[in-house]
Amino acid sequence: MSILNTDYRKCLDASERVSWTLTSVVPANAKLSFSRPFMPAGMHLAQQLDSLTSAEKLKLNQIFGRAYAYLFYFVEAYIVAATMEHARAELYGDEITLRTLLRFTEEEVKHQQMFLRFGELFDRDFGTEVGLTDSPQEVAGYILSKSPMAVLLVTLHLEILTQAHYVDAMKDDAEIDPLFVSLFRHHWMEEAQHAKLDALELEKLREGASPEQIAQAEQEYAEIIAAFAGLLGRQAVLDVTSLEMALGKTFDPQVREQIQQAQSLSYRRAFLWYGLTNPVFLEYLTERFPDLRAQTNALAEQFGRGPQ
Ligand SMILES: [Fe+2]
Ligand SMILES: [Fe+2]
Repeated sequence: MSILNTDYRKCLDASERVSWTLTSVVPANAKLSFSRPFMPAGMHLAQQLDSLTSAEKLKLNQIFGRAYAYLFYFVEAYIVAATMEHARAELYGDEITLRTLLRFTEEEVKHQQMFLRFGELFDRDFGTEVGLTDSPQEVAGYILSKSPMAVLLVTLHLEILTQAHYVDAMKDDAEIDPLFVSLFRHHWMEEAQHAKLDALELEKLREGASPEQIAQAEQEYAEIIAAFAGLLGRQAVLDVTSLEMALGKTFDPQVREQIQQAQSLSYRRAFLWYGLTNPVFLEYLTERFPDLRAQTNALAEQFGRGPQ
């Protein structure tokens, strides 16, 4: 079913129906289970490396989970800023639309708090520090320097893929930490409305746009994806050091390189390839941005597969 088959009132009703509080999802006594992996094995390509023991792979998986959740906190910084602008544009307009966009913004700040709470629980009990890419505000500034249509296309991509990760890989995985799965189940419940709102807001912008403005937005979408690929590559480098610290050992340079490549590929598959090949996203692009749809296979190959 097309993501376009919705309206603001339906999104508002759904948002109110599924709403949850931070303390209900991450209560004060919440605890992560460090005997379990956090990320589904299929999303963590370092599982296939012969150079790591299963205990080392488990540590790396947990580091991956820490950074994966943090990256959603990270991108939500720009999503909050962008959504506030969309809400502001409805200030004296339609109140249903205004309320829906205000809830969208509030939910994203709540998600940021949820991912920060997870980070605190993780850091408290993991034992050693995990390096994380910094400057969410700087990245937000770069993304928001692009046209609002390009920004919304990237947001739609991310909000579709977080749901797909949960439904495809996390929901029925009995191995991974249940609190971690619960975070992404609650995220999914609210992101379902966000993706529809992205499509509705895109509709407003696209209708009034010239072919040149649409072409520019499509180009800028690809630029933001390329910048994101760079950021993910930097996170992969940090993960190797975090793993060495966690294990209290140093790997040979070629093993370091293998781990880094596997991590980089895992991040790019999760955050780029998964969106660029998602049927819901592709169906939307076919309907509304066919020229960008014509580039997605090449972009998936370029940015999603990572180093071969
Ligand atoms: Fe979110
Ligand atoms: Fe969202």
